[in-house]
Amino acid sequence: MTRVAFMLNGTPATWDGPPTARLAGTLRDDLGLTGTKVGCDAGDCGACTVLLDGRQVCACLVAMGQVEGRHVETVEGLAAGPLARLQEAFLAHGAAQCGICTPGMLMAAAELTRRNARPNRAEVEDGLGGVLCRCTGYGKIVDAVMAAVASPEVAPATGRAVGARLPRVDGMAKITGTDRFGADGVPADALWIRVVRSPHARARFQLGDLAPLRARLTAVLTSADVPFNGYGIYPDIKDQPVLADGEVRYRGEAVLALVGERAVVAAIRDDEIPIAWRPEEPVLGVEAATAPDAPLVQGDRPRNLLLEGGVKRGDATGAFASCAAVVEGVFETAFVEHAYIEPEAGWARRVGDRIEVHATTQTPYMDRDEIANVMRLKPEAVRVVPTACGGGFGGKLDLSVQPLIVLAAWKLGRPVALVYTRPESMAASTKRHPARVAAKFGCDASGRLVACDVRATFDTGAYASWGPTVANRVPVHAMGPYAMPHVRSWGEAFFTNGPPAGAFRGFGVPQAAIAHEAMMDALADRLGIDRLEFRHRNALRVGDTTATGQVLAHSAGLPQCLEALRPHWDKALSQAQAFNATSSVVRRGVGIGCMWYGIGNTSMSNPSHMRVGLSAAGILTLYNGAVDIGQGSNTIMTQIAADALGLPVAQFELVAGDTDLTTDAGKTSASRQTFVSGKAAEKAGLDLRQQILRLANAGPDATLSLDGAVLTVADGRAVRTLDLAIVGPLMGEGVFDPPTTPLDADGQGIPYATYAFAAQMAEVEVDTELGTVKVLRIVAAHDVGKAINPTLVEGQIQGGVAQGLGLALMEEYLPGRTENLHDYLIPTVGDVPPIECILIEDREPLGPSGAKGVGEPGLVPTAPAILGAVHHATGVRATRVPLLPHRLREAIQRKQGGHA
Ligand code: FES
Ligand code: FES
Repeated sequence: MTRVAFMLNGTPATWDGPPTARLAGTLRDDLGLTGTKVGCDAGDCGACTVLLDGRQVCACLVAMGQVEGRHVETVEGLAAGPLARLQEAFLAHGAAQCGICTPGMLMAAAELTRRNARPNRAEVEDGLGGVLCRCTGYGKIVDAVMAAVASPEVAPATGRAVGARLPRVDGMAKITGTDRFGADGVPADALWIRVVRSPHARARFQLGDLAPLRARLTAVLTSADVPFNGYGIYPDIKDQPVLADGEVRYRGEAVLALVGERAVVAAIRDDEIPIAWRPEEPVLGVEAATAPDAPLVQGDRPRNLLLEGGVKRGDATGAFASCAAVVEGVFETAFVEHAYIEPEAGWARRVGDRIEVHATTQTPYMDRDEIANVMRLKPEAVRVVPTACGGGFGGKLDLSVQPLIVLAAWKLGRPVALVYTRPESMAASTKRHPARVAAKFGCDASGRLVACDVRATFDTGAYASWGPTVANRVPVHAMGPYAMPHVRSWGEAFFTNGPPAGAFRGFGVPQAAIAHEAMMDALADRLGIDRLEFRHRNALRVGDTTATGQVLAHSAGLPQCLEALRPHWDKALSQAQAFNATSSVVRRGVGIGCMWYGIGNTSMSNPSHMRVGLSAAGILTLYNGAVDIGQGSNTIMTQIAADALGLPVAQFELVAGDTDLTTDAGKTSASRQTFVSGKAAEKAGLDLRQQILRLANAGPDATLSLDGAVLTVADGRAVRTLDLAIVGPLMGEGVFDPPTTPLDADGQGIPYATYAFAAQMAEVEVDTELGTVKVLRIVAAHDVGKAINPTLVEGQIQGGVAQGLGLALMEEYLPGRTENLHDYLIPTVGDVPPIECILIEDREPLGPSGAKGVGEPGLVPTAPAILGAVHHATGVRATRVPLLPHRLREAIQRKQGGHA
């Protein structure tokens, strides 16, 4: 033990403890400064960045012994000083999405702007290079820093709420470090859990004598302690145990939960945990899973098959014979990790006969029902209070810490917390499905698509998770956003001993888009038609019938997206041609990718229920059950409700996500919140407005104003006031469930009420000797129906593009080998190019103010565009992603050797 004296945010501080203790933990756990975040505890992510004597450091790497006599600055210290302008700029520019990286970004920016009052863009990128962001694509963060140093003014938001670039309504907490993420609000008297996980992908095991462990700990939980030891997304598939029972099916599966005081739990050595493992040969990959003699990953699942099904329209097989050109290809993708900067975290406590769960999640209501099922409680006995969510991207749609903290808190009657380590998060959580997509497309001599046949085969890992959703969604999207009369598409998912593959931004559609866009390029090249023009010729338009037999009645803006790209495309092509005329080793290429994306669940009820309340004291509240995971739904919902009601955003209070205080708005996934919950919020605002107008006997054009408990309704020259203390509280309700129909055996029906469309263009530079690809620029044109908040829409697109770049060129999760952010690389600020967003507003009448959704569409076309650009530069068509340098180099060499 030693005493460390230092300056903390300008104030003298002392701390007593071991000199090897890390600064990050000390700040958070001992000094209560949880604005400093921990994303990896290993120096890889930069979330813990603070200033030490004015220089940015990773606080998770700094020993307290090194802090003696020095000056530590954290995000909590920024607000008081001149650097508050940086924070304001972050808010104004939408630089904080989920906000988990924001304190680290701010500290890195603070160091930079102190030593360089006018940094240029490259210097800003360099200064922020040590901090990872998984949400924003970095562009708006760099914009914010540039704006903060360029001007002391932050443009005020003006105009009506819908369509305005309003700052996030929940942004202040993100830029001051006061937002409470899953690990930030753990009660001081909480017990902690450490989960013992399988080191094997497939094994049987026996637990030894647990008595010695139990003597040292408060509890050791096994499968026998779980009331119903199975959970899963689908009501009829509860195949994943909370704690494995004698058998494990993937590396990282939970086996035991050690519960006790934090330091005691952490001190248990692995060799003190009595588990006798009997490893078995794992079933890795779909080929192994579908081999005739393959062992069954789950004993009751013949052929290791989770699900299969497809779409059939016309006669694809016969139609190929009439085509002027037919192309084929097989494309493979890898497991991809979500890599949200906030690892899974939360805590629970028992309150009488109820359990209260505070955890990071995308789906509080599904969590509530699933926890109730595992615990054999009624759903009403479970309260889920979502913490701030430090990124999700689909990965926090599955349960993680919840069942174990609930089980322990319920049994022990004490608060219990669990915060995953980074390696644990990566080993235990779901992944993007690896896919093998075999595609065949044909067109006529004029370049009109005639037929396609696509078979998408997915590795769903050890448990079902969202596998059925992926296998269902992909056949509907597999032909791409194009009109063609003859379609056969098939999706199938097989169990393996890989990590459970779940939901990840796009539900399989990004994998399928790599295939259909490569086919578009190949057909266009075969016929000598410009690749953009080929897509424009075939783009789905209003009035067209999709492969499921759905007539697109409104809002199909792909042609407009392509037209918006065309000038950029033409210019980029000629620039690449000019560059390549004088460069042989480094080659430039230009590529294009298109997509469509059905908003919301596939052919399933998909309701959202929102409420807007006005209390007797005049407090206006949006009760919003939709979780904001960084995408901005808190702000979007408020903007929509405000305009529907006719009162300003600034007067709204927000109650978000708490299952005791809100109504079920469904999960934050499938790009559905703006379209579905936004419509519900609009209806709730309109409902409250109608009630007010009735009470005031006013017409539909009346204007409202609220001052304390006095509501003034001005209708022409008639002005009436309502005293809410007398009128009593009012509540507006809105429910929306998008109209869809089930798909029949041939996949015919209406799977989605509306679709988003997009086209993106990528310019790349390829070093043909090294196989490296540098993405120079992305232009992204997206039909979003209506941009409720253009800043947030652009943020979604830019963040999606960055993840699409990772999918195309960098990211491959290998169990046991890439379970940290050092070996698993996600794009840094230096990897993400300038991203220009073009917003097309082809109004969707069903949506709020015409809006659709954009969360997933931002990612889907990026990999196809980059891979198309690589092909344009090198002639190599990537068939396996990520297109790592060694893969591309080998492919180029094969091609140069005449083998490809
Ligand atoms: S938490 Fe310190 S670098 Fe990630
Ligand atoms: S805003 Fe950067 S990680 Fe979410």
